[in-house]
Amino acid sequence: MGPDAFRQHFPIFQDSVHLCSCSEGALSDRVMVAMSEFMTSWRIHGAPWDAWMQEVDRARTQFADLIHAQVEDVAVVSCASEAAFQVAWAENFTQDRPTIVTTDLEFPSVAHVWLAARSRGVEVEFVPHHDGLVAAEQYAKVVTQRTALVSVPLVSYANGLRFPVTDIARQAHQNGAHVVVDAYQGAGVVPIDVRELECDYLIAGALKYLLGAPGIAFLWVRPSLERGVDPALTGWFARTNPFAFTPKVLDYADNARRFQTGTPSIPAAYAATAGLSLLNETNSEDVFRHVEGLAAALQDRVVNLGYRLYSPANPESRGPQVTVWSERSEHLSTFLKERRIFVSPRGQAIRMSLHFYNNEDDVKAVTQALSEYRG
Ligand SMILES: Cc1ncc(COP(=O)(O)O)c(C=O)c1O
Repeated sequence: MGPDAFRQHFPIFQDSVHLCSCSEGALSDRVMVAMSEFMTSWRIHGAPWDAWMQEVDRARTQFADLIHAQVEDVAVVSCASEAAFQVAWAENFTQDRPTIVTTDLEFPSVAHVWLAARSRGVEVEFVPHHDGLVAAEQYAKVVTQRTALVSVPLVSYANGLRFPVTDIARQAHQNGAHVVVDAYQGAGVVPIDVRELECDYLIAGALKYLLGAPGIAFLWVRPSLERGVDPALTGWFARTNPFAFTPKVLDYADNARRFQTGTPSIPAAYAATAGLSLLNETNSEDVFRHVEGLAAALQDRVVNLGYRLYSPANPESRGPQVTVWSERSEHLSTFLKERRIFVSPRGQAIRMSLHFYNNEDDVKAVTQALSEYRG
């Protein structure tokens, strides 16, 4: 599917400019149909758990397809924090290897899980950004033989910096550390092939560029790491057979499902399957090229208007987000919202994010409005 056909699936573009996928992806006709199918199934069949479980499996499969993974290596969880917790508690921290290395551009919820692991003797080190940039060399300065886990976002939520994940992962592995990638701000736009990324864990939630709804996230685990771990945070969906109903038997599924816990969010699974199905009908390289082109055009235009960039100017380091500094970001965002242009303010910055459904008209509309803003 090309960008014009893709855009047709998102009714919001009939009257609005959606540039906030970094906060919540646009609602598609497919997700609307899927959510109403969920309600219809509930209304008509009472408690159709078999069908609902199949929908969770479909979401899991669609995500696995998107990242070129085997479905067995994907766990369905409720949010990225839960996935991060499973990773932190799967790792074997020792006195000789007590450290998690992360960055100050990490999303707080993931960083907070790393900090909470300090109760187990873990030490956390933050690689600082310089003017919104973090190079692989800066990770290299901090990662040592004492590092157990290296955490790197695929794209930072704060300014859209696209991290050199593979370079960082190689350095980490040379030091004997494992690597976790929070792909939440990239998955759906930045092509992901876990066979090439060289990470050990990958986390993504469905509600942003994956075009689903809140309530579901995915954790991919390198198969060679899965079976050695019996997660302490568990529940019946982690059992070999969740429907065996044997409260005295704590067996763990023989694959990444062992990282799951309790009943998954069924409505969110319906939305995730529908959103992912649209993405899986596109070519991920086309999606990325389209978004890159729009981001470059938007960047040029906002710089010409005199805005100062927080996102990286260099396309090699830029994700799907163009971010500009604005002391009155909430005010500016409201000004744009009144014109039905949706962006995402964060602190003193405005995040404008692009997806396959955006086009040049959206870029022109937001820059026209920005040129009229007299905040
Ligand atoms: C990079 C990143 N990770 C994680 C999250 C969300 O984490 P959780 O699913 O735990 O709410 C966000 C949400 O904004 C994000 O941008």
